Amino acid sequence: MKFLIFNGSLKPDADSNTFSVCKMAQLAFEKLGHECEIVTLRDLDYEGSTDDVNDELKHYIMKMFDMDGVLFATPIWWGTHSCHIQAMLERLDFIYSWAKDNKYQPFYNKVFGTLVSGGGDGFQHIHGVLYSAASNFGFTVPPQCNIESKAQGIEEIKADEDTLNQVKNCTINMVTWAKILKEGNPTASARHGSVDINESLNEGKRIPRKKGQKRKSKKHSDLYTDEDPKGTIHGLGFKDEATARASVSKIRKSGRSHAHKIQAAVAMEQRARAAGKSGPAAIYEQEKMRIKEITEYVRSYVHPDVEKQLKKYEKRATGRARMGYAPGYISYPFRVREGKKWSKKYKKSINCANPKGFSQKAHCAGRKKKK
Ligand SMILES: Cc1cc2nc3c(=O)[nH]c(=O)nc-3n(C[C@H](O)[C@H](O)[C@H](O)COP(=O)(O)O)c2cc1C
Repeated sequence: MKFLIFNGSLKPDADSNTFSVCKMAQLAFEKLGHECEIVTLRDLDYEGSTDDVNDELKHYIMKMFDMDGVLFATPIWWGTHSCHIQAMLERLDFIYSWAKDNKYQPFYNKVFGTLVSGGGDGFQHIHGVLYSAASNFGFTVPPQCNIESKAQGIEEIKADEDTLNQVKNCTINMVTWAKILKEGNPTASARHGSVDINESLNEGKRIPRKKGQKRKSKKHSDLYTDEDPKGTIHGLGFKDEATARASVSKIRKSGRSHAHKIQAAVAMEQRARAAGKSGPAAIYEQEKMRIKEITEYVRSYVHPDVEKQLKKYEKRATGRARMGYAPGYISYPFRVREGKKWSKKYKKSINCANPKGFSQKAHCAGRKKKK
């Protein structure tokens, strides 16, 4: 099996207590017959962002898909984890969003552990924060996979019984649980994420709607058409690169499904190209490739049968409440009923002299007819 340690120390490896404990953990994984790599984050040229950035860190983020377990290591600074470990939580945001959009958790069946080097105060808080994030990313946290090493200086760390025992506990437990998860594959029957999959992952491959086919038929991929504007992401444009960039951000934040986002990016790319706007078209194309890339990683590393899995969840979810997002609370989904009826109060509040949006216009047109 394969394990990856993200070392979040602010010091170079040669001077770092955190790195010394990481090295002990690496040797322990290897002694147990498994591969383990340490990545010292401060050595990478990377950006702090919640976006998917193509820098040196991206390679290691994608590598996580190929791992059986991941360990986050940090010194304690004023009671909390280091900025490099915080950057990791932030940089994993695009995978978190991908998982929500697809109702598929790529980190299921993988274990997570924490390693804290420090004087002894603040470690519970760090483990708590990291466990909470890891659990939401879909990792499994086995028991006692938290190392807290008080020892200072490489010689003291090497000779510290307490550190050694914790390293043993952590690595043996991570290996044991990772093996159980791999063999038992609970992912197959677990509930994934909290957002419905309404579309398959046929991103980019447009199957045009033929004459006579129903608007929402599964036989074509034109789910969001001009004749069916419900759910359209408004305000997208391609007049220049700044507009395209702002539009890409709108697509990302739209809370729409994976397939919907891809379709929006593809449609805008085609429109920009037809208008001879190669710069904005390239921005939309890049966005399309970005979403596809994560899917490819999931397919090749996590579950080659991801399509089958997604279909199963789609089938189960049919007719159920759809998940939505409250504006401003994008990462905390709540349930909204598909086709929920308007309340009397809301209906009364509609001003048919000036209806807002497609639905209100349709409602007012109906009122007129009745009269
Ligand atoms: C400014 C500063 C703040 C620290 N804050 C804490 C703390 O709140 N709790 C703690 O247990 N250790 C604290 N420490 C100790 C470090 O976490 C400890 O020395 C750690 O092993 C450093 O790891 P490194 O060598 O990888 O940087 C602090 C050290 C410094 C210099």
